[in-house]
Amino acid sequence: MEAIGTIYRIAASRETRSGLTLDRLGGFLLAEMENSDTLLIVWHSRTGTARAMADAAMEEAGTTARLLRAEETQPGDLLDAGGYLFICPENLASMTGMMKEMFDRCYYPVLGRLEGRPFATAIAAGSDGEGAQRQMDRIAKGWRLKRVAEPLIVNTDAQTPKEILAEKTVCNEELTACRDLGAALAEGLRQGVF
Ligand SMILES: Cc1cc2nc3c(=O)[nH]c(=O)nc-3n(C[C@H](O)[C@H](O)[C@H](O)COP(=O)(O)O)c2cc1C
Repeated sequence: MEAIGTIYRIAASRETRSGLTLDRLGGFLLAEMENSDTLLIVWHSRTGTARAMADAAMEEAGTTARLLRAEETQPGDLLDAGGYLFICPENLASMTGMMKEMFDRCYYPVLGRLEGRPFATAIAAGSDGEGAQRQMDRIAKGWRLKRVAEPLIVNTDAQTPKEILAEKTVCNEELTACRDLGAALAEGLRQGVF
């Protein structure tokens, strides 16, 4: 995909056949997948909240969804997907470092190649979550992604060091919101409505 993406910009002519863009260059036929209906759910979690949220989103998203840890997500995974759900905690008023590392690592390799694709976010937080969500919105803006669902923030109300460091459980109502979000994104991608 990398090599094709490079040549793609100087291809001489283009046609579309059944979801594939075909470019002709010096007799070679180059193809890049268009309109992937794969929902990529990228997550990071330290004490279980965001992991439970990601698992819930995946549960209802169906077979066209992929669930990947932030640390294993590669630029190619982003390129191959049609839309994204980013799920992580807020730490020190920012997105968690591991999720930021994924964006740092993947930002330039995919810049200019995700434009217009849909995305949504879900943040696990003690009492806020807005800082992490704003950061992800700014990065998504750089990639020219399109937000298609309201930000989802799950507050665990963990305040003391002991509570913050403890493994978390997420209540059913909040897991349902995550399931609904995963289902809506996946279905929207399958139907091509975004
Ligand atoms: C180092 C650290 C910093 C945190 N900073 C914030 C914060 O700025 N705002 C907030 O709402 N919660 C904050 N929290 C609370 C976590 O966001 C919360 O515990 C969340 O449920 C963690 O998600 P996880 O269980 O998926 O790791 C912090 C937690 C840690 C460990």
